[in-house]
Amino acid sequence: MNSLNIIILAAGKGTRMHSDKPKVLHALAGRPLVGHVLETASMMSPGVSCVVYGHGGEQVPLALAGLASDFVLQEPQLGTGHAVQQAMPLLDDDSTTLILYGDVPLIQAATLHPLLMHPSALNLLTLHLEHPTGYGRIVRDDDGHVVAIVEEKDATTEQRRIREVNTGILAAPTGLLRGWLNALKNNNAQGEYYLTDIVAMAVAQGVSVHTAQPAHEWEVLGVNSKQQLADLERLWQRVQANHLLAQGVTLVDPGRIDIRGKLTCGRDVEIDIGCIFEGNVHLDHRVRVGAYSVIRESSINSGTHIAPFSLIDHAEVGNDCVIGPYARLRPGTKLHNEVHVGNFVEIKNSEIAAQSKANHLSYIGDSTVGSRVNIGAGTITCNYDGANKHRTVIGDDAFIGSDTQLVAPVTVGRGATIGAGSTITRDTPEHELTLSRSKQLTIAGWQRPKKKPR
Ligand code: UD1
Ligand code: CA
Repeated sequence: MNSLNIIILAAGKGTRMHSDKPKVLHALAGRPLVGHVLETASMMSPGVSCVVYGHGGEQVPLALAGLASDFVLQEPQLGTGHAVQQAMPLLDDDSTTLILYGDVPLIQAATLHPLLMHPSALNLLTLHLEHPTGYGRIVRDDDGHVVAIVEEKDATTEQRRIREVNTGILAAPTGLLRGWLNALKNNNAQGEYYLTDIVAMAVAQGVSVHTAQPAHEWEVLGVNSKQQLADLERLWQRVQANHLLAQGVTLVDPGRIDIRGKLTCGRDVEIDIGCIFEGNVHLDHRVRVGAYSVIRESSINSGTHIAPFSLIDHAEVGNDCVIGPYARLRPGTKLHNEVHVGNFVEIKNSEIAAQSKANHLSYIGDSTVGSRVNIGAGTITCNYDGANKHRTVIGDDAFIGSDTQLVAPVTVGRGATIGAGSTITRDTPEHELTLSRSKQLTIAGWQRPKKKPR
């Protein structure tokens, strides 16, 4: 097979976004529009993947560094044909060039593959629309062969009735494409070098023109305004939700879930409303996620229950844990099986072994906690001395009384008990009770101060 180049057009201004940010960097499902296109492009293993950028200066190449093989500036922007031309010096004639668009984010690899099946032809992705207004129309002869694409602004009344439209996505032999682009003229309604004019050139040269259609209309929807961006976001979220439902995941309301990345689920997973999943998240068998939880780059093992309003970020959670409501697991948290983390408990860069519990109002940072430990309400690890972070180690079966401060570096021995309200600054022995608070005393006959008479 010929080698493949992918050119992604992303130079447009995006005037209707009313934003200083280039249009293609606005996010859909948590990632720039053009980021989606680049991910699909990378699945096709192209030799060259080139983003043609323009408006917004270096913002586009900076934001996408490493995701494309090349970035070329199109300045000024003289049309889609002119845009493609900017990338041509990077490409070998003996290859196939596929053209995608930075503002058409949801194109899928399965739809693109058929465009590569006739490498010596010009291959167009077209679509039949009830309301074709605004699109270039596919003009066919009486035998049904494509003869040209005509832009709406240049079309006759009769041509405007054609419902087969140009999605803009196409694949062509690179050598031929180069010749056609060099011959483009801008004598049309918009004074632009139209990429679409290559179709009539191919036909005149006897090069066959093939067409294919996308599997879903949403794959070729473009974004020109915040309204279209919001609409496409909802549409894509619904596609992803339907995919989960088809796998057997229970979604209390498939219209109220947001997946910004990749969510994988085991069997009998249940997700309540308003949850957001970011990056790569795995929920294993029978995991239940309560309403309005946010889970980012984390894996939750089987049988665990995340109660509502929990935030879990770069964490690993074991089997049969109970997390939340209102729990916060920060990066570097690793919970073993059957751990309980309750309301207003924050855990960062800490490992907690099986069956330990921190059920109320705690901060556990830079800690190693053993098994079956009970961390009382209000316990704080003081891990930061103002300059450096230090570790707290708590042995198996320790019992930390409520409102304890563990001033790190410090180790609580196995089976140790810490009396409530203690400030622990030195290591505590195994199996003993340690406490650091002053003894309770009563001052007999003590009187509250009184206001002085004026
Ligand atoms: C284009 C097609 C039209 C098709 C429609 C599908 C042409 C001439 N027309 O029209 O047949 O139905 O897309 O949406 O190709 N761009 C650049 N540099 C430029 C001009 C455009 O990078 O100089 C990029 C834009 O950022 C955008 C894409 O190319 O991503 C399409 O440009 P746009 O002006 O929106 O094309 P349309 O007029 O919609
Ligand atoms: Ca245009």
